[in-house]
Amino acid sequence: MSPKDIDAVILVGGKGTRLRPLTMSAPKPMLPTAGVPFLHHLLSRIKAAGMQHVVLGTSFRAEVFSEHFGDGSALGLDIEYVTEAEPLGTGGGIRNVADRLRGEHAMVFNGDVLGGTDLRAVLYTHTTTDADVTLHLVRVGDPRAFGCVPTDAEGRVTDFLEKTEDPPTDQINAGCYVFKRSVLESIPTGRAVSVEREVFPALLTAGARLQGHVDAAYWRDMGTPEDFVRGSADLVRGIAPSSALPGRPGESLVLPGATVDPTALLLGGTVVGAGATVGAGARLDGAVLFDGSAVGAGAVVERSILGFDARIGVRALVRDAVIGDRAVVGARCELLRGARVWPDVQLPDGGIRFSTDV
Ligand code: GTP
Repeated sequence: MSPKDIDAVILVGGKGTRLRPLTMSAPKPMLPTAGVPFLHHLLSRIKAAGMQHVVLGTSFRAEVFSEHFGDGSALGLDIEYVTEAEPLGTGGGIRNVADRLRGEHAMVFNGDVLGGTDLRAVLYTHTTTDADVTLHLVRVGDPRAFGCVPTDAEGRVTDFLEKTEDPPTDQINAGCYVFKRSVLESIPTGRAVSVEREVFPALLTAGARLQGHVDAAYWRDMGTPEDFVRGSADLVRGIAPSSALPGRPGESLVLPGATVDPTALLLGGTVVGAGATVGAGARLDGAVLFDGSAVGAGAVVERSILGFDARIGVRALVRDAVIGDRAVVGARCELLRGARVWPDVQLPDGGIRFSTDV
């Protein structure tokens, strides 16, 4: 079975609530990540693996995807779009694209996972075991935050476990599956269905062959601000592999049209978007600056995301925070862990502090 005969299906219909307010203007898979929309990194991996036909399962802000990627020819792919009027969940979204499939097997991806796994190896496991569904399972250092998926000596999935303090395995569902088309077509239609919580457990109970493909490749779900910031920095530094990275991996990525004062310090995989500006003596560490944003002189931005045209005033401190599009953080403000500033909000100079010095 050649990868060319495998349809790639990408689920991109989620609302991305955990990344608000950034996802109020763009769907999560379209957020700028190391110089390109996040989805571009996944599409280039799909292309590199030899697949060609891609179906995007969209719902929330569906038009943004087709406006950017069109028919996919610029990337050497053949991209189609299917839109759910009401979100059908991950399982419903997979079922909903069935009539666009051209081959007998489909490789399904969560559209928000940054991964480095060998996709051809996953396909090989699927073919050689004649599985109904092959699940990519990744071994992680701390599996407690995830549902775990144990396998037997032959790699067959034996259970789907909820998050627990004492997981019996470090293998977690990596959000990438290969379905036999006939199995995909058995997912119920006309209602929301979760592939993780409903489809897979039901298939297991029914005796289907669910095969695990286990590895320890780079893997990160980009769903939260912390993960988004780390994933972006890992792309910039070459820790997460991507052929869509504009330029070579390094300590920072400055996109064309950005202006960075020579005395500013860019560290930790910082990205400075097109048209963004960074003032004298500013210190950016693991910062993600979307296009058109600005950081004033002497300001410090650490592990934070600045939305489109957001502005940080002189000597402000922004750490582990998310600043919405066009928001203004006044001079000397301090925004610390978990702070989220909504789009267009203007915080006056010195308006928020976590200390009493002036
Ligand atoms: P949160 O609201 O922050 O949980 O994000 P999310 O809505 O993206 O949900 P989640 O991270 O669980 O989704 C995993 C992947 O499935 C993402 O790529 C989503 O875009 C996608 N997804 C989630 N729900 C749906 C849906 O109802 N339809 C489709 N087509 N895709 C979905």
